[in-house]
Amino acid sequence: MPTLLVIEVSPRFDYSTSRKLTERFVAAWMAANPQGRVITRDLAKAPVPLVDFAWIGGAFMPADTHTAEMTAAIRVSDDLVAELKSADHLLIATPMFNFSIPAALKAWIDQIVRVGVTVGADNKGLLTGKRADIILATGGDFTPGSRVAGYNLASGYLTQVLGWIGITDVNITLAGRSVAGGVGETAIEALGATVEAAAVRATASAAAM
Ligand SMILES: Cc1cc2nc3c(=O)[nH]c(=O)nc-3n(C[C@H](O)[C@H](O)[C@H](O)COP(=O)(O)O)c2cc1C
Repeated sequence: MPTLLVIEVSPRFDYSTSRKLTERFVAAWMAANPQGRVITRDLAKAPVPLVDFAWIGGAFMPADTHTAEMTAAIRVSDDLVAELKSADHLLIATPMFNFSIPAALKAWIDQIVRVGVTVGADNKGLLTGKRADIILATGGDFTPGSRVAGYNLASGYLTQVLGWIGITDVNITLAGRSVAGGVGETAIEALGATVEAAAVRATASAAAM
């Protein structure tokens, strides 16, 4: 039974391009995986904590020396890692904020990148065999060849950090509103079929493994 983990990031609930495209992706994924399980982690509704002093102690000090604060902080991370490990497919649906990713998504990434847990001591990513799709909603047009394509720091960063934990099969759908020619609804019409194809492609890739 394949599992899809959906990470929602947009703080806009009614007019979000990334959320609406996610609905299309998930519907296509479920149609292709009728027995599949979808887990949604909504970082806008329930933000995860930032890495703090207790977290660092929990991650890097022996368990038998942990304070109650360290134990609590690292349990949050352990639970988020377990959730990610349980998934065959990962979908990150996020806006671009200031050429990069929103802080809410960065907080989740900082929770799930752990030496000895998701990255080996030899710097090899441990979460192999998974596929990731990213829906990156933007106001501008960052498609390759566009005037500001180089300003997009989100795509490269997400690809690099997912690769760092072993998820190297990463497909990004750039959902630029201006490239779609209008408001969010137009981008959804223009890109709905693209994300549906990505959802089905993810399934085919997993089946081939
Ligand atoms: C704080 C903030 C920063 C943003 N920064 C950028 C940016 O750097 N580049 C861009 O193209 N769009 C930027 N936008 C526009 C959003 O990426 C765009 O509206 C996107 O559709 C939001 O995703 P959503 O529709 O899923 O909420 C920004 C929006 C906000 C609220």
